[in-house]
Amino acid sequence: MSVVPANIESESLAVGSAEHRRLLGQFFLDTFVEYVPEQMPWPALTEEELTRLRGLPFWQEAVSTENVTSNTVAAAAALEADPLVRKAIELQGFEEMRHARLLVALTSHYRIPVESPPPFTPRSLESDFLFAGFGECFDSFFAFGLFALARESGFFPPALVKVFEPVMQEEARHILFFVNWVKYRRSQLSWWRRPLFRVRCASIILKQVASRVKTARTMGKPQPAGAGSGENFTLTAHQDVAADVTLHRLLQLCLAENERRMAEYDSRLDRPRLVPGIARLLFRVIPASV
Ligand SMILES: [Fe+2]
Ligand SMILES: [Fe+2]
Repeated sequence: MSVVPANIESESLAVGSAEHRRLLGQFFLDTFVEYVPEQMPWPALTEEELTRLRGLPFWQEAVSTENVTSNTVAAAAALEADPLVRKAIELQGFEEMRHARLLVALTSHYRIPVESPPPFTPRSLESDFLFAGFGECFDSFFAFGLFALARESGFFPPALVKVFEPVMQEEARHILFFVNWVKYRRSQLSWWRRPLFRVRCASIILKQVASRVKTARTMGKPQPAGAGSGENFTLTAHQDVAADVTLHRLLQLCLAENERRMAEYDSRLDRPRLVPGIARLLFRVIPASV
């Protein structure tokens, strides 16, 4: 299904203009998809499929991440004076909470042991929202490839893929909204505050990159027993979903899936560029056998 209106023009809008603000909020509200996690048609799995699903080491980390993100995003709506943009952030908070509810429903249906963390309380609305948003730009990009891999390899049966498909598409929407919101937010600041905002964004991005580099350096090395996938699991979990997939193939899948998912939306919105750019560079320089 395409949600790109037939009559849109492809040129981008002036950042911070009334039309840009309207598009930012409206695209998000218009592309909302209704589903209720507690009413999902969980497919019956074979013993082998159940064992594989239960054996994935990242359920606890996924639950913790959704807890932090959902509470951070819900609180960040208070940053916005504009009712339409605020409504879009509130909706994103609702969707993140729904991801957390979906994980609760899945883990309890298939009896996967996870602990519910106490609700996360953000310390700084803007900094925490920026940190969560830039983190999602990395996590979602790799999740797109991981999900496609699980679908291709048959690791997840098609009925389970169908249940999680809306979540993946929502994450694409979230990062698309976020990168455009960052530009919009910057445009609303007085000229002398903009450089500081850029420096803050750059420092958060560097922290996120450093964290992924640290994770990537542990890939392929034996981990201590019970260590799980831990932080940045969307970067490492391909080893659990398809043991023989190369990093080269994973990057190719991530790039193709990112492109396909973003193509659903209004072309006047800026696409996330940093993470796909890094991935494209790595895809070019690393050998296909790696
Ligand atoms: Fe999420
Ligand atoms: Fe998200």
